[in-house]
Amino acid sequence: MFRAKAQDGIVWITGASAGIGRAVALHLAGLGYHVAVTARRAADLEALALEAPDRIFAFPGDITDRAAMARIVAAIEATHGPIALALLNAGVYHTEERKGFDVDVVWRTIETNLGGAIYGLGPLLEAMLPRGRGQIALVGSLAGYRGIPGSLAYGASKSALIYVAEALKLTYQQAGLTIQIVNPGFVRTAMTGANDYDMPLMMEVDQAARCICDGLARGGFEITFPKRLAWAVKVASLLPHALFFPVMAWATRRAR
Ligand SMILES: NC(=O)c1ccc[n+]([C@@H]2O[C@H](COP(=O)([O-])OP(=O)(O)OC[C@H]3O[C@@H](n4cnc5c(N)ncnc54)[C@H](OP(=O)(O)O)[C@@H]3O)[C@@H](O)[C@H]2O)c1
Repeated sequence: MFRAKAQDGIVWITGASAGIGRAVALHLAGLGYHVAVTARRAADLEALALEAPDRIFAFPGDITDRAAMARIVAAIEATHGPIALALLNAGVYHTEERKGFDVDVVWRTIETNLGGAIYGLGPLLEAMLPRGRGQIALVGSLAGYRGIPGSLAYGASKSALIYVAEALKLTYQQAGLTIQIVNPGFVRTAMTGANDYDMPLMMEVDQAARCICDGLARGGFEITFPKRLAWAVKVASLLPHALFFPVMAWATRRAR
């Protein structure tokens, strides 16, 4: 199983202008990796790059722009050599979701969280498959396991990413690719800062980044944390509908 070491090539992280992506970029740079970072806020990426000069390099772009993603992968490889590890982390949660079903909000979420990852995967697979090695981790969520009220679009996009990761692993593991899914619980970032309900077992972003980097180094398929919440969600995901609906309705009564 291929697990990218610092000497194998550069790391690409999307959604690195803030939150989890930013923290993982700094952590990997501290471990000696070279890291290319992408997000729309170019100034924030430049500020991040200044925190680890000669280790972190800004490649700004919008993950919903297919051509831009292909250009960015090509530019990273032309400038810094092969991408050995990619963390497709950029994502959004629109709080308007909690007001009810809105086609625009649902589509914008799916377009970014699922579409953006697909636009990253296309050029990455094209680059990695001929080399016969590469490591790609998609960032899903524990919210992707079962239906959650107020999270239809976000949960659906993350559920789809879990499926994509499973299918990619089965398709490409023999071709030398390591495919992983990162399913976090609640992590304190701008995304969860917009929530006004209790978020159990909230993790600090640096701790989450350490869990992700440890999981990337181990190479197992699913990187999930905090463990207690992950186990609770996994058990809930096994419930038949007759039990699942009352349990989930009770668990989310304050979030609705
Ligand atoms: N925080 C949690 O509790 C939690 C739990 C489970 C999963 N996750 C997942 O973890 C990932 C990171 O979340 P976070 O909590 O760190 O959120 P965050 O602090 O809001 O950061 C989101 C990142 O995604 C980038 N992004 C959003 N839309 C983009 C686009 N169209 N093109 C390029 N970049 C885009 C943002 O950069 P720009 O705005 O500069 O583009 C930002 O860097 C997401 O996929 C999220 O779903 C988070």
